Amino acid sequence: MNKKLALYGGEKTRTAPFTSRAPFGKKEEELLLDAVRSQNLFGKSGTYVKDFEKQFADFYGMGYAQSSTSGTAAIHLAVGVVDPEPGDEIITAPITDPGSVMPILIQNAVPVFADVDPLTMNMTPKSIEANITDRTRAIILVHLFGRPCNVEEVVKIAEKYHITLIEDCSQCHATKYKGRYVGTFGHMGCFSLQQSKHMTTGDGGMTVTHDRETYIRLKLFSDKGWDYQYMADRDHAFVAPNYRMTEMQGAVGLAQLEKVRGVIERRHELGALLCELIADAPGITPIPPEGDREVSWWNFVFHVTGHDPDEFCKAVRAEGVSMGAHYIKDPIFMRGNYLTEKRTYGNSGFPFHHGVTSREYNYGPELVPGAVQALSTVVVWGLHEHLDEKDIRDTAAAINKVANGLGK
Ligand SMILES: Cc1ncc(COP(=O)(O)O)c(C=O)c1O
Repeated sequence: MNKKLALYGGEKTRTAPFTSRAPFGKKEEELLLDAVRSQNLFGKSGTYVKDFEKQFADFYGMGYAQSSTSGTAAIHLAVGVVDPEPGDEIITAPITDPGSVMPILIQNAVPVFADVDPLTMNMTPKSIEANITDRTRAIILVHLFGRPCNVEEVVKIAEKYHITLIEDCSQCHATKYKGRYVGTFGHMGCFSLQQSKHMTTGDGGMTVTHDRETYIRLKLFSDKGWDYQYMADRDHAFVAPNYRMTEMQGAVGLAQLEKVRGVIERRHELGALLCELIADAPGITPIPPEGDREVSWWNFVFHVTGHDPDEFCKAVRAEGVSMGAHYIKDPIFMRGNYLTEKRTYGNSGFPFHHGVTSREYNYGPELVPGAVQALSTVVVWGLHEHLDEKDIRDTAAAINKVANGLGK
């Protein structure tokens, strides 16, 4: 095989395009059509959303599941249950989607960022505990890129300090840690059903819990504090948004739920193979599987430690495999000025400057050195369940070729 990199005029490793992910099939079409033909797409008076919630809860072995319109909404419901006082603190992740941060601010609480392990990029129990103060009300534990966090240790911390544990499983559907799904360890588990997720309804969200009181509050919070079953007609329990899911999402969600374990098992297998095939590539640090947990690879990630990651990705792209460096580039609190400059509600700076906080908050990179390090080296590749072994072998060949040939 020609070892000259395609970037330097050599032959490409891969010329054929990769298969695209196709999450929807016949069952989704049938159920969706049935929902439309029922002449009712309103979730509260239909059957699909109710069935989807019931089956989602059963799948996770949880008593209750409350649907909503997005992963951000699913987390907002959970924060709504916590009902923080203005200025209370909620710990979250520095490498994540803004959906793990915005609900905290929207409920007038203050986000505090725990640091991550620079290899796995998951929040560390040690940093979570170090960030707890007498204002901490909850932890949002983000299981990133399909790899479960050390959730048992975080459960112990939450219990020790009597704070609520919310698991954000948006990137980690149906994935087992010590034989049990993440999302079932904390007080509430939240899931995004956005298009890129392991199971999807285009957009959508789900929040699960074991606790009936929590469920009632989740339900009320998802619909303006309003539900005939739990409130008198036209009474509204508290200030809350409308995050109602429609029958269209319910129908597609039901079909997706049947497939999700297959998706996770396939990604786990393909990701493990790719880790193995790039284990000896110079300047590359894979994030290997761990014996006590599955990895469902929302995207495949690894670290480029011995080359410039941007140059590396450019060279791999030239080989015919599309990958990108740095994921979100900076810790999430530095992407935009809403935290660095406290641009929250108009110019008020609320809840940071209104006598409701007990300390000053500065959101700089020094808060999370592990996250800064990880973001400087991480490379993301779109592994998915419809790829085959040849796709993985070609991707590994491109990575190995570039790792051996870059700069030569
Ligand atoms: C970890 C994590 N949390 C929350 C969200 C928010 O989900 P949504 O985009 O459905 O609001 C996402 C979505 O990308 C995510 O990856």
